[in-house]
Formats: sequence, C-alpha cells, structure tokens
Amino acid sequence: MNELRLTAPISWLDGIDIKTGKIIQQDHPQRGESLAGRIVYVPHSIGSTVGAYTFFALKKYKTAPIKIVLEEPDSITISAELAGISVELKGAKEIKLENRDIREEFRRYLEKEASISEAEGFVRIHSVHISGVSYATIGDTGKEWLKNMENEIKFKVAATTNPLGMDLYRWKEMGIPENFAREQMNIVESLIKMGAIPSFTCTPYLAGNLPHYGEHISWGESSAVSFINSIIGARSNREGGAKTIIAAATGYTPLYGRHLDRNRKPTIAVEVEGDLNRLVDYYALGYFIGKEYPNSVPLFKGLKKLYIPELKALAAAGAASGSIEIFHIPKITPNLFKRPSKSIRVNLKDLKATLDELSTFSGGSDLVVIGCPHLSLDEFKRIVSLINGRIATIRFWLYTSRAILSQIERSGLIHLIKSFGAKVWADTCMVVSPLEDMGIRKVTTNSTKAAKYLKTLRGMDVEVLGLEEIIERYSIPA
Ligand code: F3S
Repeated sequence: MNELRLTAPISWLDGIDIKTGKIIQQDHPQRGESLAGRIVYVPHSIGSTVGAYTFFALKKYKTAPIKIVLEEPDSITISAELAGISVELKGAKEIKLENRDIREEFRRYLEKEASISEAEGFVRIHSVHISGVSYATIGDTGKEWLKNMENEIKFKVAATTNPLGMDLYRWKEMGIPENFAREQMNIVESLIKMGAIPSFTCTPYLAGNLPHYGEHISWGESSAVSFINSIIGARSNREGGAKTIIAAATGYTPLYGRHLDRNRKPTIAVEVEGDLNRLVDYYALGYFIGKEYPNSVPLFKGLKKLYIPELKALAAAGAASGSIEIFHIPKITPNLFKRPSKSIRVNLKDLKATLDELSTFSGGSDLVVIGCPHLSLDEFKRIVSLINGRIATIRFWLYTSRAILSQIERSGLIHLIKSFGAKVWADTCMVVSPLEDMGIRKVTTNSTKAAKYLKTLRGMDVEVLGLEEIIERYSIPA
C-alpha cells in the first residue's frame, strides 16, 4: 500500500509544493516526500486557515493524495473533502444534521466533518469570518470554486471578510499588476453576491464583528480565532477558508473542539521570566510557544501591561508557527481555568533566539511593513509617537482595516504619518499581496507571523526587529 505517515503537523498553505505535491515545509521530517496518489496519515495541521484552498490546487495539478487519515479532528484538513479528497479519522461514527433546508452537498460535508470530529451534534452560529479572499493565496482554483457558488447560495449569517491582495481603491498606487487586480475583483464580486460583508480585515473584532462571550461562531483567519476565543471568550474552531463559506451559507457548524468547555482548558503553564517591554517580544513569545507546543492551550504567567496590540500579536504568532486556538492569561482573559500540571519556563534569551532565527538579513531593507495583524488605533498612536520629528529613509508601509483607516483620517494622525513618509494601505496586507511582482526582495517587519509567510509564500528575505529599532534604523531626524 502506498502510504505516507507524517510524524509532524503540516502547514497546508506554505508547506506543500502544489505542482509536485512534495512537502517543502522547513524542518519537516518528511520534507521532500510527495503526497501525490498516496494515503497520507496526518497528525493535524498548523498555520493559516487559507491552507484549505490548497486541496483544490493539488487536485488541479493531479498531485493530491488519494486519502488523508487524520489522527485528530482538524477543520482545515477536513476541507480536503470539498476538493474530492477523502478524509477519515479512525473509529468515526455517523452523525446526521436534521435540517432539510440546507443544500444537500453542504449538509453532507457538515455531517462528514461532524463524524470525523466526533462532534456532539451541531450548533447554530451567530457569525462567520471568511478567510481565503486574496487571489495571491487561493489562485485560480479557489477563484473558480467561489465563482461556481456565487449564484447558488446566499449567506444566512453575518460574514465578514479577510484581507484582499490589494488596496481596493489605490491598487495602482501600490504597483499591483492589472491582471492580478482583475482576478482579485472577480473574487470580491463572488463573495459580495453571496452576501459577504466587505470588511477585508483580519481584525474583524475591531471593525464591527465583535462576538459576545460564549457565542458560537465559525471563523477562519487563525489570528482572529485565537483572539476571540482567548480575549472575548467566544467559541470557534480554526476553520478552513472554504468551510467558512459553507458555515455562512448554512448557519451551522459541528459542535466539537473549542466549542466545548473540555477543550478550552489550559494544557501547559508558561512561566515568562523577565519583563517583556516591547511589542515584538509578544510576537516572539507566541511564535516560540506555537513552534514548541503547536496544539497546546497555554496559560501564560508573569505577563503584565497587556493591551490590544500585545494580545493580538500573541494570538497571531501562536497560530502561525503552531495551531494555538486559545490561551489564557490570569486577570486578562475571561475564561475560567485550573492550573495545568505541565509547566515550562521561557526567558528573554529564548525570545531573542526566536527573532534571530527568523531573520535572514540585517540592514539594507527594501521596505518596512507593519500591521500583521491589521493595526489598531492604539498601535497607530504608538507609531506616531515614535516617528514624530523623523523622516523615513526607505519605503514604510502600514496596513489596517478600512474601518480604522477612516478614524485615522478623521483624527489627523494621517498627516503625521504622511509627513514621516509612510503610506497606509487598507483592505490588504504584506503577506497576501504579490510583493514579489512589485520589485521587492528584502522586507523588515516586527511581526513573526508576517516574517514566516513573507519567506515561505512571497519568497522574501526578512528582518524581524522591534518597532523602535525599525524606526531608529530606517529613519533620520527631520
Ligand atoms: Fe492579517 Fe495578513 Fe497578518 S491577514 S494576520 S496581516 S498575514
């Protein structure tokens, strides 16, 4: 039997070469092995929820596995079923969704997901956040799948959308090729026809889609899932991009994983030694834990002075290097918990090593990119206080949602940013726009998530520094 057993989790978005079906994930024990035509045993996936669209591409290039056998439930990997790749979990039982009002193929998909995940039935959801919106990440196969759906379904719940591959209005100024813009607009049109809300941000919780404590939702975008599970106390699994379309069209999701109390308890206490004074330290901490304990529920101890920027950095990083969907911090996060028996210590040296490992150059960057996840008002204020009286010496690009951008523009902060020489883009981000087609090769960022994907998806050299160091290195007094 032509089988392949993966002994480490896989990142579907950037861990597979779709044209050969080979594993290209750095440090993966089975790197170089091909999935094509094999039965592949997978512990679980890590990283971006947009990886769910990779299965359509594997099918198109005839490099798909014939079957995937999961060791544990994983919504992103289960999305392979939508591309016609069978997914199984040993011992799974049949579970029926008794609602005849649901399109047959979606009902069958939800039943399959429920059965593979050993769900306790189904739950109605209050909102969806759709990931896999950029043409740069879902490509022609994802675009065509959405096109086939656009006249067939109407969303039943509020469904916000992740960033596009370009600023919706200023894409020419960004240097986006015309062909890319045309294909991107086809995706936007399909989503809007189905009823999506054109928020185009990875921080929907700062842009009008804020769930309640305890509310069941079905969100893609791993950073947002980790944020709303941990900080708000809402309940979502890390959903594959294509699954978010089905959830929005049906208003249901299977009840398993982070929807259930028993799967939200901390599994590891993380004693943080030393003061984390810079935002980049939180990006490093999340990344370190996600990499070392990919599927854990961390209880962070010893953290002080956490605001929205630190919390979203922690959420994004742990979900990028691993698959962390929820974490706890005493007196900050709302979920109830008991201290787990397993405990580890993390110090500032570990964090510095994490940042150093991600960097591939030092000095001489083409472009600074800040805003992964999208910048909050708080972060804009911090940036403005650091750049005051200085001028950028290279291109500086800041990314946020259109909702936050309109507040920046009305507040006058935008003038200070412009006189420094930075540009603020909305609707898009550094990872899901085609930087490689814009003559950019070396990029500096403070986000470990951006650094990871800029390397693997955009083929960039990256430099990861704290915001203060970036401004010191790449600007001069006016
Ligand atoms: Fe958001 Fe793009 Fe980062 S979608 S979390 S800014 S990779």
